[in-house]
Amino acid sequence: MKAMRENMVTIDSDGVDPDLVPKKLLDSGARIPCIGLGTFGSDKISGEVVAETVKSAAAVGYRHFDCASVYANEHLIGESLQDLIRSGIRREDLWITSKLWNDNHGKHDVIPACEKSLKDLRLDFLDLYLVHWPFPNYHPPGCDVTSRNPDAKPYIHENFMKTWRQMEKIVDMGLVKHIGTSNMTIPKLKPLLRDAEIKPACNQMELHPHFQQPELYDFVVDNGIVPIGYSPIGSPNRPERDTTPEDTVDTEDPLIIRIAERLNVHPAVVCVKWAIQRGQIPIPFSTNRRNYLSNLRCTVQASLTDDDMQAIESIDKNCRLIKGQVFLWKDNQSWEDLWDLDGEITPP
Ligand SMILES: NC(=O)c1ccc[n+]([C@@H]2O[C@H](COP(=O)([O-])OP(=O)(O)OC[C@H]3O[C@@H](n4cnc5c(N)ncnc54)[C@H](OP(=O)(O)O)[C@@H]3O)[C@@H](O)[C@H]2O)c1
Repeated sequence: MKAMRENMVTIDSDGVDPDLVPKKLLDSGARIPCIGLGTFGSDKISGEVVAETVKSAAAVGYRHFDCASVYANEHLIGESLQDLIRSGIRREDLWITSKLWNDNHGKHDVIPACEKSLKDLRLDFLDLYLVHWPFPNYHPPGCDVTSRNPDAKPYIHENFMKTWRQMEKIVDMGLVKHIGTSNMTIPKLKPLLRDAEIKPACNQMELHPHFQQPELYDFVVDNGIVPIGYSPIGSPNRPERDTTPEDTVDTEDPLIIRIAERLNVHPAVVCVKWAIQRGQIPIPFSTNRRNYLSNLRCTVQASLTDDDMQAIESIDKNCRLIKGQVFLWKDNQSWEDLWDLDGEITPP
């Protein structure tokens, strides 16, 4: 196959030159690619397949990979990253995110957890390290929606700040370039922004056409934090524990289908394109070459029209898919308690 060359690195002939993929500027001056590849196999796709996909996705032009220790595949992705770097991709041209899992919020846990991710990923530093959830509540891989940790705790700002101070420390130690949050709410972000010495560079949050979170999105952007949108396609293969009968399906929305037909793309690609044009960084997961390539390609293809963007804004259904039930900390709670819907941190 005839191939383009980026620096000394070969890109598949039908791929996208990574230099052409738009980047977003962070407050630090760093530039993050406007799309990343998700690596959570949803308890269904093996780590080996995900790790192999990282290599082939790099061959079509991906440079941004969204990892997490809880996905239990960082040791395999690390082999792929090492191969990519040996093949000539410069470390500074990659953007690698990892996340602190919930059972490592303790006083002496953050540095070793970060070091373990670095070792597994075979890297000297991470571009971004996120606190995966603001709850220190462990749940076992593959558990179902009723699973509860008997030691589960609510969000307590004072405790979160102890974790955050360690996050700041790993920046000072040079282990990570940026730190950030995930699954936060405005009531939790406000005191963090007040108390942080290093404010979050990015906030990872669920974002797709049926769940646009406009208030949180605006809050984050207004505070100079870059929003990273997870489950940008509405996570059609998400684990059972994250599925309820009320959930809606973005890719079956008549408007999304109509736009996709006009553009001759899969409805998933319309979701990705909308995310990028709105301003968040989508991190779609796929192990299917045709699919992850079309997600990347849409970053350099014609824009959705203003009418498309306005029409998609109007189909928001406030439909949260990743509700987080397994993090609840006492009986008779509902998942809404995790998300501070009353505008205040839900009391313990
Ligand atoms: N911070 C957090 O708490 C959190 C939570 C959830 C997810 N995440 C991150 O976000 C990433 C993405 O979220 P997600 O995996 O939940 O859902 P998603 O990206 O919305 O959906 C992934 C699914 O969409 C399909 N797909 C992707 N591109 C497609 C295309 N062009 N055409 C048709 N189908 C397509 C994939 O199937 P194929 O493989 O068949 O293409 C896959 O099953 C995760 O991998 C993870 O890195 C973070």
